Amino acid sequence: MKAIILSGGKGTRLRPLTYTGAKQLVPVANKPILWYGLEAIVAAGITDIGIIISPETGEEVKAKTGNGERFGANITYILQDKPAGLAHAVKIARPFLQDSPFVMYLGDNLIQNELNQFLDHFKEQQMDSLILLRPVANPSAFGVAQVDAQGRVVHLVEKPKVPPSNLALVGIYFFANTIHAAIDRIQPSARGELEITDAIQNLIDQQKHVEARQIEGWWLDTGKKDDLLEANQIILDTCLKSDLRGDLDAKSQVFGRVQIGAGSRLINCTVRGPVTIGKDCQLENCFIGPYSSIADQVTLIDVELEHSVILQGATITDIHQRIVDSVIGQRAHLKTAPQRPKALRFMIGDDCQIELA
Ligand code: DAU
Repeated sequence: MKAIILSGGKGTRLRPLTYTGAKQLVPVANKPILWYGLEAIVAAGITDIGIIISPETGEEVKAKTGNGERFGANITYILQDKPAGLAHAVKIARPFLQDSPFVMYLGDNLIQNELNQFLDHFKEQQMDSLILLRPVANPSAFGVAQVDAQGRVVHLVEKPKVPPSNLALVGIYFFANTIHAAIDRIQPSARGELEITDAIQNLIDQQKHVEARQIEGWWLDTGKKDDLLEANQIILDTCLKSDLRGDLDAKSQVFGRVQIGAGSRLINCTVRGPVTIGKDCQLENCFIGPYSSIADQVTLIDVELEHSVILQGATITDIHQRIVDSVIGQRAHLKTAPQRPKALRFMIGDDCQIELA
């Protein structure tokens, strides 16, 4: 059994963060999204893993993730020269996959369930494909499945205007080598992509053995800002363990589950978990409220913050309103005058969203 993780694509919905970096490397609770999938695959006993990368962000993914040794895996990087669709990614991974059955994991998806239960069922039943489904409120944003009374998949359609059900395709799929012939039989969709949804539909049309399982636990597709904040909240809620390594002065207080990395200094700060603060951060006169993730080398002075994600190297000073539901990019600077500002001066990158609420 092998696995491929898709870490190419453009990441347009997470701009501007994805102008300078891969969306799969955006951190959730201070860990790149991509690594959650990688760890889940290794936990299921699969160590031969191919990661699909794009020419724009591939080097960064490679540099950060490495050859897999630290995850107990053997990683092969596979360059996809353009984001021509999920089935196109499988096509170019063929020399790596050969005739092995495989798990395909979308690099911006996270699920709570362990993969083993699905993997065992897929293997035992010798399926051509096992897909995972979850009811969602906005099925038009996903691949959607129609299932019959026995739970068999009747029809799959990608991002339908009029969805046949509320069951979305989760971005984790199990395939036998028969998927390659199905991909060879399909044509690009109206949006010009070779859709994996169409390839699975083709398997169904060929009377192949395709089954679906509904997942019970949470599923996160971190494509947009609010999804990212939700993923951050859920991961902090379920996975964070207290671990205080930085220096806290006598006036600083920590409540609940809080992680603070080595080399970080907190002066006169209150931190109310769950919160994770990375390495080498400088925090002075701050309140850091629940569901905040602060990456390495961040400076916060006179700041109140909650339910937010602050990326590496950002500096925020003298903000007198509480910062909430915010994502602040790498090396961003945010500052106001100590009193109520008379003017606001901005240098804001393309596609940023600023709300002075
Ligand atoms: O998240 C689940 C959904 O993922 C499914 O419900 C849909 O059926 C499926 O098509 C997919 O839809 P998205 O629009 O969310 O896919 P997206 O373009 O965001 O790509 C998913 C991941 O795959 C992302 O990490 C980028 C990567 N990718 C994407 C394309 C199109 C590649 O590596 N190569 C590609 O060519």
